[in-house]
Amino acid sequence: MNAPDIAALYASHLAELKRRADEALARGGFDHLVVPSGTQHWQVFDDRDYPYAVNPQFKHWLPLTKLPYSWLVYTPGQRPQVIYYQPHDYWHVVPDAPNGWWVEHFDVLIIRKPEEALGLLPKAAGRCAILGEPQSALGDYIPNNPEPVINYLEYQRSYKTPYEVALMREAQRLAVRGHRAAEAAFRSGASEFEIHMAYCSAVGQDANELPYGNIIGLNEHAAVLHYMDLGRTAPAQSRSFLIDAGASHRGYASDITRTYAADRSGEFQALIDAVDAAQVKMGKSVRAGVDYKQLHVDAHLQLMAILKDFGVIKVSPEAALASGVSAAFFPHGLGHPIGLQVHDVAGFAASDRGGRIERPAGHPYLRMTRVLEPGMVVTIEPGLYFIDMLLDELKQNGHADSVDWARVDAFRPYGGIRIEDEVLCTDGEPQNLTRPAFAEAA
Ligand code: GLY
Ligand code: MN
Ligand code: MN
Repeated sequence: MNAPDIAALYASHLAELKRRADEALARGGFDHLVVPSGTQHWQVFDDRDYPYAVNPQFKHWLPLTKLPYSWLVYTPGQRPQVIYYQPHDYWHVVPDAPNGWWVEHFDVLIIRKPEEALGLLPKAAGRCAILGEPQSALGDYIPNNPEPVINYLEYQRSYKTPYEVALMREAQRLAVRGHRAAEAAFRSGASEFEIHMAYCSAVGQDANELPYGNIIGLNEHAAVLHYMDLGRTAPAQSRSFLIDAGASHRGYASDITRTYAADRSGEFQALIDAVDAAQVKMGKSVRAGVDYKQLHVDAHLQLMAILKDFGVIKVSPEAALASGVSAAFFPHGLGHPIGLQVHDVAGFAASDRGGRIERPAGHPYLRMTRVLEPGMVVTIEPGLYFIDMLLDELKQNGHADSVDWARVDAFRPYGGIRIEDEVLCTDGEPQNLTRPAFAEAA
């Protein structure tokens, strides 16, 4: 995407955000939307700060992720303002002078000290919807996070503008660079830590810049859903490799998982191929009007059909789903909304005025219960794992006969499989945002 295109997309994005803010303010009965970018946070009894994390409500408006103590101010009918904190500081690198495609749309007011914002914020603090964390409070400007405003804005955030989709595509490209470097490192016998470093280096982002901590598991570690230990020593033999890693671009996240087998002609590779084919098929079901809860349940059945084909379970997929056997092998949700946050907001939202759509019984980790609509981006991340704790529970619950334990023993040394892409729901065919980035890089 070249610069003029993104600038044009941004102008439309901003027009849409103003429209949404107008409605949100009307619903809450406020005159101004005020969004602090957030502050630094200090470690207890220490003078070290935690990595700064920008307020997502702020980066929705502005592609600025390293600008603490700054404020967005929007008043319907007026040009939005950015109160832009650029300290005089010789200890740290200070934020650049304002630049980029966003600048022409804002009045930019530079401050050198955080408290200088006080003189620039709207006069009547009580008329402001202030969206932020408690630490951002400044004088009378205390985040009040009014529910009608937040409910509306978070719900609307589900519908990505073309500008957001463009940035998310770039976040895919960056992550794919890392995934390719990581696969090469795995095939050369690297440790998990070395693979992680190869990933970060190829993406050009360190652990604080990535949208979430890399999950990089060799062999049995692939069975730990959020394995983040990064072993420093390579195992004697690397049989399998699961990597769940994303990238950030202008505040937007990607979240991609791939699984590899060292032996490309073995049975574990065949199992990966089967999950991969099923994952592609699931991605094609991301269509307007489809209930994501149903996709999740369908995924259980498709995954259990694979386990039946491979002789791991002895019962029908339907029986495995009903008895809870399938949840032992696929113990997480099919996916979640993604955007400014890797687990983006409003996955359970019943409406833009609040309310919650509960998860189906027996699926406690699903993070998306809504009906899909054009503009939503969700992950599709089916998995199959050989997790001792859950398999032991199956035995204790009287389901030992549903499983061929010799087949479990054969697959246990490989840990598990997850394949994860982002998919954009449209009016017609869904767009897989991840696979074209791999194809482009190949
Ligand atoms: N990487 C976390 C997730 O896939 O949801
Ligand atoms: Mn995910
Ligand atoms: Mn993931």
